[in-house]
Amino acid sequence: MSNKVTINNKIKSFSKKINVSGDKSLSIRWVLFSSLANGKSKAKNLLMSEDVLAAINAIKILGIKVIIKKNQCEIFGKGINGFKYKKNLKINAENSGTLGRLILGLLVNSPFSIKLIGDKSLSKRDFKRVSDPLSKFGAKFKLKNNKNLPLEIYGNKNLKPIYYNENKGSAQCKSAVIFAGMRTEGTTIIKAKKSRNHTELLSKYLKLPIKIKIKKNYDLIEVKKVNKIKKINYKIPSDISSGAFFMVLTALTKNAKLTIKNVNINSSRTGVITILKKMGVSIKYQNKKIYKGEKIADIIIKNPKLIKPIKCPTKYNSCAIDEFLIIFLVAAKAKGVSTFKDIGELNQKESPRLTWGNKILNSIGIKTKLTKNSIKIYGNPNVKVEKKIIIKNFLKDHRVFMTSVIAGLTFGGNWEIHDKSSIKTSFPNFLKIINQLKQ
Ligand code: S3P
Repeated sequence: MSNKVTINNKIKSFSKKINVSGDKSLSIRWVLFSSLANGKSKAKNLLMSEDVLAAINAIKILGIKVIIKKNQCEIFGKGINGFKYKKNLKINAENSGTLGRLILGLLVNSPFSIKLIGDKSLSKRDFKRVSDPLSKFGAKFKLKNNKNLPLEIYGNKNLKPIYYNENKGSAQCKSAVIFAGMRTEGTTIIKAKKSRNHTELLSKYLKLPIKIKIKKNYDLIEVKKVNKIKKINYKIPSDISSGAFFMVLTALTKNAKLTIKNVNINSSRTGVITILKKMGVSIKYQNKKIYKGEKIADIIIKNPKLIKPIKCPTKYNSCAIDEFLIIFLVAAKAKGVSTFKDIGELNQKESPRLTWGNKILNSIGIKTKLTKNSIKIYGNPNVKVEKKIIIKNFLKDHRVFMTSVIAGLTFGGNWEIHDKSSIKTSFPNFLKIINQLKQ
């Protein structure tokens, strides 16, 4: 079967209700927490994507039983110290930075060294940002080029609590340190630049010994050793990062209207909504509720008459971090110049995303000014694409693929977008939902 998608027509107006798949960050965290719990945890609507299956394989390698049923996953945790460590264990995080980084926090007291590997994209990413703080607990690391995968972690039985200044706004590094703190006698203190807080919310829901003080520009987190985690039955809400592609598809399609059901609207994730609203897109919440500490709602989006440009305040960067590629498409159609600053972190993702965002915009004839850390986008409400555009060699970054599909469906032109299978890592149903909206 061909691994590319061709798009030759814009999508026609639609008015629909959709469900997108389960939240990836929550799915991976549920798997990891459940592997440490006592007894059988169950999840419904767990995201069945390659990243989450890699997390399930990882805990299986550590001796935890998992049963996947039709729409339910069961994990048989054996307690906080229930991993079965053996010599020469190898964990494959595949494409998942979240799995690769978080799981290291759980392995800091392994009696044997464990090898962590990943695919081509993950092997290019920075693991020193997580091995550095975990080394301070007393674990030791050997990394390729001192920075990359494959790496080897050597655990330590006498871990010491640390003070850690997390200044990148990385939820993955913060969460890895929280996990390591849970295995360590004493109090670990983290001063964390704002980033998604699912690990903290789940810890609080589980009544683990964690304290969080919310400050204006950072959070102060105190973690103590955890002795027991109760089993967790969880219905995973839908992923706003998956929903974002359809929000933008709606915003850029004349007369379109869309409801996305049951989405996690945790404010550390809703940057895309704040930014799109500021650009003139009508977005409303309905059926708001709180579920195990997470906010959930249906999201209703309408196509606006005119899109306004934005000077995007940097305070939205962390809560929109995975959505900038798709937001850039909205800026491309705005009446005026948009700027996004301090977003160099995008080049640390599955592919150099700032570079790819710029390439996609230039390929549809949008002028940009790019630096290592920022982009200026000269929007054009009348942008019309008539040429052939080929998108390939993007390190199979799912978000580059999906952004290109949305661009093809909204700007016109003849698109050939490679590596369709990239969506399997995070959003296997993406193209099915596109087809639903075409009918
Ligand atoms: C994630 C954190 C973010 C995000 C990633 C998921 C998480 O990465 O980009 O898609 O689940 O913790 P960083 O921690 O590198 O910012």
